[in-house]
Amino acid sequence: MMKNQSQWKTSTGFILASAGSAIGLGAMWKFPYMAGVYGGGAFLLLFLIFTLLVGLPLLIMEFTVGKMGRTYTTKIYEKLTARKWLNIIGWNGNLAVFILFAFYSVIGGWIIIYLFKVLMQLVTFNDSALSKINFDQIITNPWLTIVGQGIFILLTMIIVMLGVEQGLEKASKFMMPLLFICLIIIVIKSLSLDGAMAGVRYILEPRLDDISVKGILFALGQSFFTLSLGTTGMITYASYASKEMTIKTSAISIVIMNILVSVLAGLAIFPAISAFGYKPTEGPGLLFKVLPSVFEQMSFGTLSYFVFLILFLFAALTSSISLLELNVSNFTKNDNTKRKKVAVIGSILVFLLSIPATLSFGSLSHIQFGVGSIFDNMDFLVSNILMPLGALGTTLVVGHLLKIEELKAHFGRDKFKLFIPWYLLIKFVLPVVIVVIFIVQFI
Ligand code: PHE
Repeated sequence: MMKNQSQWKTSTGFILASAGSAIGLGAMWKFPYMAGVYGGGAFLLLFLIFTLLVGLPLLIMEFTVGKMGRTYTTKIYEKLTARKWLNIIGWNGNLAVFILFAFYSVIGGWIIIYLFKVLMQLVTFNDSALSKINFDQIITNPWLTIVGQGIFILLTMIIVMLGVEQGLEKASKFMMPLLFICLIIIVIKSLSLDGAMAGVRYILEPRLDDISVKGILFALGQSFFTLSLGTTGMITYASYASKEMTIKTSAISIVIMNILVSVLAGLAIFPAISAFGYKPTEGPGLLFKVLPSVFEQMSFGTLSYFVFLILFLFAALTSSISLLELNVSNFTKNDNTKRKKVAVIGSILVFLLSIPATLSFGSLSHIQFGVGSIFDNMDFLVSNILMPLGALGTTLVVGHLLKIEELKAHFGRDKFKLFIPWYLLIKFVLPVVIVVIFIVQFI
């Protein structure tokens, strides 16, 4: 191991960091908006199936690869297989997180803008029509949104530059439970609204007629997105972890937490949608439009909303640092003396790419192609193309090039005899599933 390389001393550090990377905008912002567009309960069902049968085995796989290879991911494939060209899987991940960070920061910026607005009491709480207008005014204001996302990228950059992620991860020990509690309070409030039940039914009842091909594709993409899969980000975190890390327990707890947060976010939003007469198909703005109406109904609404936004921002930042960290790790080749320079250059480039993403909600909204706006296409390119491709590459390497005994040794204690089913899934089933779904989207 290189002297200046980052490493966690305990396996708790590793779990906190990878859970932090996983739980973020994906579960809280993207899940409700996707579920609203692609059939509510049907989408939730597909998401659960994909997360448990595809996401979990893939997460175990990425942790295993990181633990075996213990180096940065544009080198790790060569190190494990002696085939240099396979490092392309690492480069694919690098590209994926670069684009991902750019559109992620748009939403991170919205959180920051709402934080300031709430602080200055500028958010209209009492009317759903006004809440929409409020939101539209924000997202169509180019300077405001560019400054917002700039601050989000800057915060991420400072944390990564200083290498103080570990401090942040320690903070997540209490920030994450607080976020859970906050979500539960919102859910309780939302469920108590008049007309809430229609929304509950919408998100929990799997109406099979609502399953569409697009819904299937996006549900798979959502599992990849929330679990940070296919970008090699999780491989990177596992490569920093101490030898005693427990792969399966870590992966299972991250998957469960992710499902919980997604479901809680759904239960916070959909009852309020039906109670206040919003449309579930509002798209990326859904959470931001609906939440003010819920907080308005609470005692200490403004204060609660403020606390929620802080926790939400925290969760988004623990994910965005993992995005930047991957680039830093690969471009510095894990040499921490170059960390500052690479973090700054990477952030500036991400900022430039984030500008068209944010303008696609305003002055560039007329540019529509592929699956929609510039923003939609960036998300699609990452979640539905680059992430599945990266995961596919790694399944092929793990299933067909690595030695089974070695994998088994890193898989860890196997009381429940899970190794063989997991290995068969990785070797035969998941590559086929990914390829089939991948091809379907181009037909
Ligand atoms: N999983 C993160 C989220 O849900 C996003 C992410 C994807 C982070 C890929 C790192 C790598 O917010």
